[in-house]
Amino acid sequence: MLSKMIADLDARHFVHPWESMEDLGTGGRMVAQRASGIHVTEGDGRPRIDGPGGMWCVQVGYGRAEIGEAMAYQAQEMAYFSPFSSTSPVSARLAAVIAQRTPGDLNRVFFTTGGSTAVDTALRFVQFRNNLLGRAGKKIFITRQKAYHGSTYLSASVSGKERDRNWFDHADALVHFLPDVNPYRRPAGTSVEAFLEAKLADLENAILSLGADRVAAFIAEPILASGGVIVPPEGYHRRCLEICRRHDVLYIADEVVTGFGRLGHWFASEAVFGMVPDIITSAKGLTSGYAPLGACIISERLFDDISGAASQGAVFSNGFTYSGHPVSAAAALKNIEIIEREGILEHVRTLTPHFQERLAALGALPLVGDTRGMGLMGCVECVADRDAKEPLALDKAVGDLIDAHCRKLGLIVRPLLNMCVFSPPLIISHDEVDQMFDILEQGIRLTTDDLVRQGVRVA
Ligand SMILES: Cc1ncc(COP(=O)(O)O)c(C=O)c1O
Repeated sequence: MLSKMIADLDARHFVHPWESMEDLGTGGRMVAQRASGIHVTEGDGRPRIDGPGGMWCVQVGYGRAEIGEAMAYQAQEMAYFSPFSSTSPVSARLAAVIAQRTPGDLNRVFFTTGGSTAVDTALRFVQFRNNLLGRAGKKIFITRQKAYHGSTYLSASVSGKERDRNWFDHADALVHFLPDVNPYRRPAGTSVEAFLEAKLADLENAILSLGADRVAAFIAEPILASGGVIVPPEGYHRRCLEICRRHDVLYIADEVVTGFGRLGHWFASEAVFGMVPDIITSAKGLTSGYAPLGACIISERLFDDISGAASQGAVFSNGFTYSGHPVSAAAALKNIEIIEREGILEHVRTLTPHFQERLAALGALPLVGDTRGMGLMGCVECVADRDAKEPLALDKAVGDLIDAHCRKLGLIVRPLLNMCVFSPPLIISHDEVDQMFDILEQGIRLTTDDLVRQGVRVA
């Protein structure tokens, strides 16, 4: 009853992210009411495993009273004062705590309100720096198809999920897209090694043809998350960085999803991919979703030639009322303390082989074309024909069909067209990983039966 009332209010008034205009006002979203550990409870009172971890972010799980208490204490002590004119003990400490965990000399932290604003800040900083260095023509950002970097004008402009670009305007003159880096979609007969060389050539050729004096930065997620958990071939990021260095192009690693433990490390760039970028953007797992916060973390070196005596009086006029908000900073500090105290990074590293084995085993199901992932991130991609790798004619709905079956069985899935992506809370146990994949397997089998019944597939 209550959830029916909430659903009605929601349908009338709450415009959600990625709102379908066709379905506006028709409602139908789940009403998430309570959550604890790795489970979210909907209006029907039944706890279900949270497969997507909220939105790739609930690292330490739900219902952590000590995070709530840290936030409540900070709200009473000093909820807010202007970050333009002051600092606060929690936000200054958090900046230092982040800098201690970043690779190389990425020691300067600009706080934002989330991932999009962290990416926007990174891009604006790169432009600002080039203007100060007298390189006003060096402004193009190279990015990749299937990337997702956010929903502000500039972060959306460097995002490359085709369907999301429909009906919007973008800063097209500033952006160049490289083709898909998904090894699963490589041309037939091409080895992964040859595919890697081709992808590296895509980057270097783009820089050469646009002109290195016009290219400012390359931006890349270590693993393309909402593009379908695309893991590029081994060595890709390290060698992309070498190409960038050769042409004086900055490398921005968008670790909004991979940061804060998803791959078993504070940041993945150096620990997993063996490279130290110039800028890292982060958000989500920084507070485990308990409060909105993002961070754009910049190499000291990038400030050296534009600050102090070299500054020409310039001001980096970029900022938000809530940059480094004390209540969010208190949540982040407590979240980091919990990750450390409970050994959550080690737990992720220990659990990863089992998670990835269970994920890979789903590849035996006839509906599944590819399974891929790393750390506690995974994706199942369904296809009509495994040899031709054709997406299903019903590709819009197959993830939804799997989700509907899994929900009945006790698991929330994040459907993305013909894919389902997973990033459960990092505290998930070995047995809970088994429960999650048992349900998913059953959900895929039931969906296959549905498709056979509808005549979309033969058994
Ligand atoms: C890699 C990446 N960058 C940026 C963003 C944008 O973050 P936010 O939604 O916090 O603005 C996201 C969101 O999913 C993301 O996955």
